[in-house]
Amino acid sequence: MPGKSLILGLETSCDDTAAAVVLNGRSVLSNVVSSQDSFHRRFGGVVPEIASRRHLEIIGPVIDEALGKAGVNFADLDGIAASHGPGLVGSLLVGVSTAKALAFSLDLPLAAVNHLEGHIYANFLTGATISFPVLCLVVSGGHTSLLYMEGHGSIELLGITRDDAAGEVFDKVARTLQLGFPGGPLIDRLAQQGEAGSFYFPRALMSEEGGLDFSFSGVKTAVLNCVLREKEAGKPIKNADIAAAFQDAVVDVLVEKSFLAARKRKTRHFLLAGGVAANTELRRRLRRKMQEEGVEVICPPVELCTDNAAMIASAGYFYLRQGRTASWDLNAVPDLRF
Ligand code: KG4
Ligand code: ZN
Repeated sequence: MPGKSLILGLETSCDDTAAAVVLNGRSVLSNVVSSQDSFHRRFGGVVPEIASRRHLEIIGPVIDEALGKAGVNFADLDGIAASHGPGLVGSLLVGVSTAKALAFSLDLPLAAVNHLEGHIYANFLTGATISFPVLCLVVSGGHTSLLYMEGHGSIELLGITRDDAAGEVFDKVARTLQLGFPGGPLIDRLAQQGEAGSFYFPRALMSEEGGLDFSFSGVKTAVLNCVLREKEAGKPIKNADIAAAFQDAVVDVLVEKSFLAARKRKTRHFLLAGGVAANTELRRRLRRKMQEEGVEVICPPVELCTDNAAMIASAGYFYLRQGRTASWDLNAVPDLRF
């Protein structure tokens, strides 16, 4: 690859249609995200069939907007990258098919980016100097994974959720509290007005046997039971207090497991990634705790934590630099390694 490399990234793994142009894997020239939240809100979650149809309708205009904002044309591009999994297979197919068609017709290399690896690369767009090896916590709507990354393309899974992902639990608890969708940002905001000590929710797998794995289904049920109990007792539901106590439980587990990982594997940097990485309390407490181990925590800005195509273009740049080029029989895959 020459000195200057422009990658067009596409992201359609769930319900956001996104395209971005990134220079040399580190500079965002444009980052367009068209949210489908308004289409899914009344169902309280993402409806896969609606998501894939909507992607199909707007992927073209979203790409045009990304190229326009970056001030480039198709002819200026050096590669195309797309999320090919994990995610909703119908949604992924739209991005993958579009990326294949563009790469083939423009005679450009194609990168098939693992969506979770993509989230990690949002950190490479922060301007921070990142020295390998690094530890990463990827916390999204579908995944909660602790990873050790020795270098580009070399990732070891240290711990994973045994049931629900952290983001999914934020969304379900928000539904129980009738806050709306997506729940994470709403709980984040509401919790700031609540008292975390008003209720206590379980912290699962915190003993040695739990290792670095997570489990969040119990805390979700505990919140539901608490709300039902309060209702039966005729008490007013203290949403802000419940939100604060719930968030406290989830953040406790995420911070403690990250800390244990940092004790086991010495690194200079710890990268936070995924939608839940936008959480104010998680960012604050993780930074504070990691300082004890002399580890610097790097977090992407909030708009690069949730699904976006700039992170996919950045990962795609490093994939292509390593010769990890996808072939024309590339397919969308619902689930992968992490
Ligand atoms: O990474 P992402 O955009 O999509 C997936 O790949 O899943 O993550 C979306 C998840 C949702 O569950 C959303 O509620 C959660 O990230 N989220 C948050 C916050 N912002 C988004 N969770 C907690 N606090 C936030 N501020
Ligand atoms: Zn994601």
